[in-house]
Amino acid sequence: MGQDQGHPEGRLALNRPKTPNVVLVGASGSGKTTVGQALARILGFGFLDVDKLIEKRTGKTVEAIFAELGEEGFRSLESETIGSLERVLNHVVVPGAGALNHEKSFELLKRLGPVVWLATPVSDIANRLLMKPDEIRKRPLLASAVEIENKNERRKYLYTKLEEMQKFRMEFYQKADKFLVTSFATPETTAQLIKSLLIEKNLPQVPADQLQ
Ligand code: S3P
Repeated sequence: MGQDQGHPEGRLALNRPKTPNVVLVGASGSGKTTVGQALARILGFGFLDVDKLIEKRTGKTVEAIFAELGEEGFRSLESETIGSLERVLNHVVVPGAGALNHEKSFELLKRLGPVVWLATPVSDIANRLLMKPDEIRKRPLLASAVEIENKNERRKYLYTKLEEMQKFRMEFYQKADKFLVTSFATPETTAQLIKSLLIEKNLPQVPADQLQ
């Protein structure tokens, strides 16, 4: 994490005072880490994963923190960690999916730079996660899905759970400065689209209430 000035192209392409960083938000499994890393490469920015920073600060995994302190304890650590990024410049910052619905974290994230919501459809997320049980296991709010043996039942459970979370979190995601719906685009293509969204003010936007 640094105070570097970033890649010259990134500085030219974006309006620097308005875009000190880019914050990429979205559901678990929406692809925000891979897209965020691609975006960082394209912009010549650094990349920061808030969950990884929490794990580094505490020396504990996210699962261990949830087990020891519960979700509330995790949210406090998450807020503190986001608050510690106050002076960061030229980074793509990716918080965990639930950070936005914690008011303090949301305010702190907004101060870092424009917030872009990667609005991947829930069915795509469920399909992706079902192929990677380890990815489900390390997310305490979804982990019980792996205990369901029957594949159809597991899919149904995961889909319902993700949909519930999405409904509850929609109100906060809708407050993002920009959003885009992606399904099968590569991380690089999606990252290029985000860059365009950040530069070109008039790209058409799907109304947020049509994203379910
Ligand atoms: C969470 C999502 C996780 C992680 C934690 C809580 C959530 O991050 O922060 O397990 O509240 O949905 P990902 O968005 O990377 O899954």
